[in-house]
Amino acid sequence: MLLSRAEMTFDFHGEKFDPTRDREILRWIFSQFLYGEVTGIQVGHWIYAAPDLGAARFLAKQAIEELQHVGNFVEIMKALELGAPLPAHPVLKFLATGMMGDDWLEHVAMEMATGEGFVLAAFYALMDTLDQGTASSPALREAVAIMQRAARQEESHVRFGEETTMQLVRERPALRRRLLGANLVWMWGVSRLAHYVDRKLPREHAVLSQVQPFLAHALRCAELRVERMGLSDRPLSQLSFSQRSALVAELSGSKLAHGVGALLRGPFGLLFPRKRRLTDTYLSDPGVRELSNPD
Ligand SMILES: [Fe+2]
Ligand SMILES: [Fe+2]
Repeated sequence: MLLSRAEMTFDFHGEKFDPTRDREILRWIFSQFLYGEVTGIQVGHWIYAAPDLGAARFLAKQAIEELQHVGNFVEIMKALELGAPLPAHPVLKFLATGMMGDDWLEHVAMEMATGEGFVLAAFYALMDTLDQGTASSPALREAVAIMQRAARQEESHVRFGEETTMQLVRERPALRRRLLGANLVWMWGVSRLAHYVDRKLPREHAVLSQVQPFLAHALRCAELRVERMGLSDRPLSQLSFSQRSALVAELSGSKLAHGVGALLRGPFGLLFPRKRRLTDTYLSDPGVRELSNPD
């Protein structure tokens, strides 16, 4: 990967979650991860659009891994007795589904390099704040071990996204501007999520009080990845307002409409109907519903 695990790791100063005291907040956090993994069904769309056999093979393997991760998060929620998963936050739905790429370039750059890179930083953060070392209960130890294995697979997804993006941009440098615009919209989405988190989370909690600086760190990692992929010679946040506006304005209308539609679909679902997929129905799927009745 273009960023090492050490670079992507945020220093929580040794503060940890307590699975018993923090049950409700962990339930919310793991519910968001669970949704993120269910969006792995979108990989099927990209197998159909794969440019060559090597890419199709990689995506087929990735699809299996993402669906295994769904099972992994169900298993962790069960082991930690977190209860039934909660619905995903609308901003997360926007980032994971609304920002779905319009073409292969956007898929590898936005969903795999930027998006999964961001998820990976969150994976590392969650493992670091859950792992109690020798004081971990067997359930907690197992949860962290499962996440370690999943994180290694996520690293390979990010690496594929980075390498393919760099190759495509080397062949057609003009594509850079579109990716910069899409990254700006994505960063705006993450800052909305940060705003929500800021209003909702208790400030006196040792870990949660550090979520804002963590999100700022994850955004800096995304900027660094954009630079290292050769898309920009400076951090996106250092571009002037007019430079940023021009990049976003150049994005296709369909991309913006797609994203806005996804944001509005939450509260106004009836006005923006579309085919129901697993990402809409997974909470009532028998494989997830079992969580409401822990044995
Ligand atoms: Fe995954
Ligand atoms: Fe992944």
